[in-house]
Amino acid sequence: MIEVQNGIFGLHGKDFSCLLRVNDYGLLEQLHFGPAVQTADAPAFFCRSGLGWGESVLLKEGDTASCPDVLPLAFSVPGRGDYRESPIELAGSPADLRYHSHRILEGELSMESGLPQAHGAQQTLVITLAQEGLELELCFSLFPDALTRRCILKNTSDRPLVLTKLMSMMVDLPGDYEMTTFDGGWIAEMRKHRLPVLDSRVVNESTTGFSSHRHNPGFLLSAPGATEDSGPVYGFNLVYSGNHYASAQRSLQGLTRVMQGIGPSSFAKTLAPGRIFETPEAVLCYSDRGFGGLSERMHRFVQAHIIPPYWRERPRPVLYNSWEGCMFDFNRRRLLSLASQAKKLGCELFVLDDGWFGARNSDTAGLGDYNVNLKKLPGGLKKLSEKIKALGMDFGLWFEPESVNPDSDLYRSHPDWALTDQFEPLLGRNQLLLDLSREEVQDYLVENVSKILDQAEISYVKWDMNRHSVALGAKAHDYILGLYRVLERIFRPRPQILLESCSSGGNRFDLGMLCYGPQIWCSDNTDPIERLTIQENLSYLYPQSTFGAHVSASPHAQTLRATPLCTRGNVSFFGCLGYELDLDHLLKIERQEIQAQIEFYKLHRMAFQFGTFRRLKKGWQVSREGITLAAVFRRLVAAAPAWERLELKGLDRNKRYRLRSRPQRLRIGQFGSLVKHVAPVNLDPNGFVLRTADRHFTLPDGAQELCASGSALMAGTVLLPLFRGTGYDQNQRTLTDFGSELFIIEEEPNHAEPG
Ligand code: DGJ
Repeated sequence: MIEVQNGIFGLHGKDFSCLLRVNDYGLLEQLHFGPAVQTADAPAFFCRSGLGWGESVLLKEGDTASCPDVLPLAFSVPGRGDYRESPIELAGSPADLRYHSHRILEGELSMESGLPQAHGAQQTLVITLAQEGLELELCFSLFPDALTRRCILKNTSDRPLVLTKLMSMMVDLPGDYEMTTFDGGWIAEMRKHRLPVLDSRVVNESTTGFSSHRHNPGFLLSAPGATEDSGPVYGFNLVYSGNHYASAQRSLQGLTRVMQGIGPSSFAKTLAPGRIFETPEAVLCYSDRGFGGLSERMHRFVQAHIIPPYWRERPRPVLYNSWEGCMFDFNRRRLLSLASQAKKLGCELFVLDDGWFGARNSDTAGLGDYNVNLKKLPGGLKKLSEKIKALGMDFGLWFEPESVNPDSDLYRSHPDWALTDQFEPLLGRNQLLLDLSREEVQDYLVENVSKILDQAEISYVKWDMNRHSVALGAKAHDYILGLYRVLERIFRPRPQILLESCSSGGNRFDLGMLCYGPQIWCSDNTDPIERLTIQENLSYLYPQSTFGAHVSASPHAQTLRATPLCTRGNVSFFGCLGYELDLDHLLKIERQEIQAQIEFYKLHRMAFQFGTFRRLKKGWQVSREGITLAAVFRRLVAAAPAWERLELKGLDRNKRYRLRSRPQRLRIGQFGSLVKHVAPVNLDPNGFVLRTADRHFTLPDGAQELCASGSALMAGTVLLPLFRGTGYDQNQRTLTDFGSELFIIEEEPNHAEPG
């Protein structure tokens, strides 16, 4: 609910409030953003007079409460006495924007520029600040779990105006905070870093032209001492896929100024008289239930208001992707053989990745030429997709429309469509970006991609993008607007196509892309131990249904680490499950295990994809409709390990639950020379007999089953017996390095006890 009482704006979501007021000088004060309070509480947050600070500027001589430098503000301007960082820059000129008017709208205020935005707002408060020749609308949209903010700047003068910075939001928060950012690079996405916010500015910024894996736009601010389950935590994110900027800095008065918006580096917009500029939308979220509480809120917000409505809670198919198994080397026969194997394993969607068009037999040529390679695929995509359909699977296809190889017909006929600067073009993965800010380029992409989508039954698209551009410069924002236009034109008329975006993995994992497609391929790194970091850190801000998670070969291509198949499955269950490996090389026992994994995943798909996700001490859990699935992951084994406890979360204390471990099998080979002690004859552990046995037989692993109250299960009373160096015991769990185990916890019917 948004209300205005005695000049106070009260914005009240579920368990959070934001209070604003316009002071006597027309400045917008940020009285409060945090736990739920009442609008009538505003005076408790007023800054008292006597604030004027030494040499600081006063807006009115003699009134020490008129000192902009020390007030908690919701927006500030440069050059008028607030010396803290300003969210707006007009080519170096000062600004004097003061309150002009306000209005409250039902729902959200639609974007005019084509930027994506969160849908389904309850109400929007628009506060207009103005000075001669300039108007700035500050839009606050209220959602149950979050507040979003954006700005619209209008040039009301008769001269062009140059804008070099305009943040989507700014907020001054009292108190000390730590800032958590998610940084990384290719195959090393989402590394979590936490820094105290002190008097020097902490910046989270991307300058590559895209939101980037270097610095994800989403970040957190937490009170020192906040834990996974308690304490105040703020989450911020941007509905945008281009350069972004966020900063946090504490003032001498103990206010932490936070802002976020389009990255100002090489940003400049000339606004002709009468023209407007819209910023992307920033998302602000608060929880006093720690990092876990914040994530739950962010997940709900993204599910309900960011991803395309068609895909909200719509189950995602288990897919097989051809990339890691085939790379560029395939033909129709090979694909159909893989598809029929994938179908037998239980996969529902067959995705043909790179290599199906033009001269695309390696990453050096063909990008841009979307005509099917009929040598590889006689009969074209139509024929292939029909055959795959006939096997009982859906068909999906990879594209990389934003780039071009210089060795391509497209580049030869339109070299000027590639983004270059005055220097010799620099290639990234042998390719250049197309200038998506140009309408003819947008038209080419829309026509060519749509033509293919309409020529076969394609129910899924992987939209890849594998380079940054050094030549984007001031065009960066227009490029992103062009990309959004292209996505809008292709996919809005085809909402049923499942769009998974990708950029060398998670190089563009952001809320902007999620407005068009509900899934993002979060990393080319599918080593499950690496994925524990990548997926866990994504989970701070993004729900598990937004990330593709595939089981791939072991040893893993990027880490050379060997991991058990059960762990590869258990990690990938907590996302949109897929398989991406050469199926020809699977052993029968592996096929059986994969079949069982897929069957299990399908049974609990809604919980895995859309259940409430919680981070545990050594694992993850999801809960939905009375069922909780919890996985415990182990990195390195220790000899004589301490007994482990599984501490579950979010159960009903008074209900009784049955907990059972999902049966797993052990490979004989993992017992090494121990086997010779139990075998009736003395066998060489590296000899033919045991190697053959290892390929064909597995042993049951220790299973557990028990019944307990939610209270007991959350207290962590489940003891997990582990291998203790005394030989195989089928009642004991035998986790090797990188082992894992999954538990199913179900409410016991009719066992509710009186509270
Ligand atoms: C990069 C992606 O991240 C991979 O998954 C794969 O699609 C390749 N591109 C194909 O070239």
